[in-house]
Amino acid sequence: AVIHDQKLVRGEGGELHQIAHGSVPPLTTAQGGPVSDDQNSLKIGSRGPTVLEDFHFREKIFHFDHERIPERVVHARGYGAHGYFETYESLAKYTRADIFQRAGEKTPAFVRFSTVAGSKGSVDLARDVRGFAVKLYTQEGNWDIVGNNIPVFFIQDAIKFPDLVHSVKEEPDRAFPQAQSAHDNFWDFISLTPESMHMIMWVMSDRAIPRSFRFMEGFGVHTFRMVNAKDESTFVKFHWKPKLGLQSVAWNEAVKINGADPDFHRRDLWDSIQAGNFPEWELQLQLFDQDFADSFDFDVLDATKLIPEELLAPIPVGRLVLDRMPDNFFAETEQVAFMTQNVPPGIDFSNDPLLQGRNFSYLDTQLKRLGGPNFTHISINAPKCPFHHFQQDGHMAMRNPVGRVNYQPNSFGDGPRESPQRGFRSFAETEEGPKQRIRAESFADHYSQARQFYISQTPPEQGHIAAALTFELSKVKTAAIRERMVSHLLNIDEGLANRVGDGLGLKAMPKPADATTATRQDLAAAPSLSILAN
Ligand code: HEM
Repeated sequence: AVIHDQKLVRGEGGELHQIAHGSVPPLTTAQGGPVSDDQNSLKIGSRGPTVLEDFHFREKIFHFDHERIPERVVHARGYGAHGYFETYESLAKYTRADIFQRAGEKTPAFVRFSTVAGSKGSVDLARDVRGFAVKLYTQEGNWDIVGNNIPVFFIQDAIKFPDLVHSVKEEPDRAFPQAQSAHDNFWDFISLTPESMHMIMWVMSDRAIPRSFRFMEGFGVHTFRMVNAKDESTFVKFHWKPKLGLQSVAWNEAVKINGADPDFHRRDLWDSIQAGNFPEWELQLQLFDQDFADSFDFDVLDATKLIPEELLAPIPVGRLVLDRMPDNFFAETEQVAFMTQNVPPGIDFSNDPLLQGRNFSYLDTQLKRLGGPNFTHISINAPKCPFHHFQQDGHMAMRNPVGRVNYQPNSFGDGPRESPQRGFRSFAETEEGPKQRIRAESFADHYSQARQFYISQTPPEQGHIAAALTFELSKVKTAAIRERMVSHLLNIDEGLANRVGDGLGLKAMPKPADATTATRQDLAAAPSLSILAN
């Protein structure tokens, strides 16, 4: 740290004032007025009351009082870095997106890693999903791949997201637990939501306690589309593969690290980038067509399923390098607004009902969190390509249209104008059918991929999953919830279910949960929860 040139003056009360001189600029108010004394409010007499007239005091306190903005409703704790994406080769065959047209093209990027459940001040090594959100500042506008470090998700339809998040966050009466999922509400919801079983296997595995952000994978999760210049579509799944490989910590290490250094992950990213060890990920794509999608029993629109990499090898198409920390955490990492609906021409959505819901949710939440419709005027969110539109006014408007014309079509200006060829065109998928609230039968198998994941793990990793489930469920006070979870585990792997059942001291194993894949049917009434936890 540099100790700057000081000119000190002692005030009448003995306080020290640092005085502007030479190249040391004067302190000003936000209005630019030079400040004579920043340590004493304006008073009547030497011991009298402070006067309302003290505009400098009022401005300083007013601004401080308004420093906080709402934390993100999920993924509140995060840490970001700048970098770039470099395209390996042209993907013009699959997409007309400009970012994929030229080998060697570099696109600026900002990435924010996060935990999901904990609040902004929670610990880094919580057992949790990690957000892996990438903003690519392409020549055709911002493209956000708002992903996680786990390739599947808890639920199939966005309408369940508020329930999932309410259940995992602190219970509303007691306001705990704050940063982990070991509690009745979470396991109650999960045990009543069989579609979450695949995700639960990942979350109970070592994947949920990464060694650092630098050793995590990232996944776009949903099936998206790439659309080429001939308007032909190819389905795509996005994967970020860390150059350093995957590493996690063991649970007892995580507990110790959280106690000793709750900022372990952010410190790791800061230190490695400052030391010039720039973390790097390769973007790999799973590309497939409708026939390939139809060859599976599961649905590629179901975000609780993945396409095994053994069946469809991901193709490397570029690399992401993080080489610069933000100058200001709040301005950049806190104010960055990721939105799944930010896609350039040539990238498109699938009908995944989770993705469709997210495309509404992110715009809505940014409007609230960042205080109005002009959050794209904040530099971290502004495009880095030329942009022109007629949006105007609103709180904090920084970029209003210049001149007379703020509408189109118009006869007075030179533009901007629509571009039918260059502009975004949705893939013209044909849709028909009755309007109804329904889940497709192709979404109904909740256990096969959970089982596949569990048996793909090495024996020590399987041991960690069993230990995590036993530990988490041992914190659940309601016996019926513990049993309901074990009844699901019986459909995943009997050995796992027995280990957890033994660990929990169950007197008898429950029956396996109903695993029939028919969609609408009346299940036998669930046993009433006679033991209510406090
Ligand atoms: C925030 C990923 C599902 C609503 C985030 C963030 C990530 C993420 C990475 C943090 C972004 C950042 O760093 O600023 C995912 C993934 C999902 C998923 C991978 C499923 C595959 C959903 C769903 C909804 C939703 C279904 C709602 C219907 C939100 C909201 C935020 C958020 C409201 C806070 C955004 C903000 O305030 O900046 N999500 N999410 N997410 N997500 Fe999701």
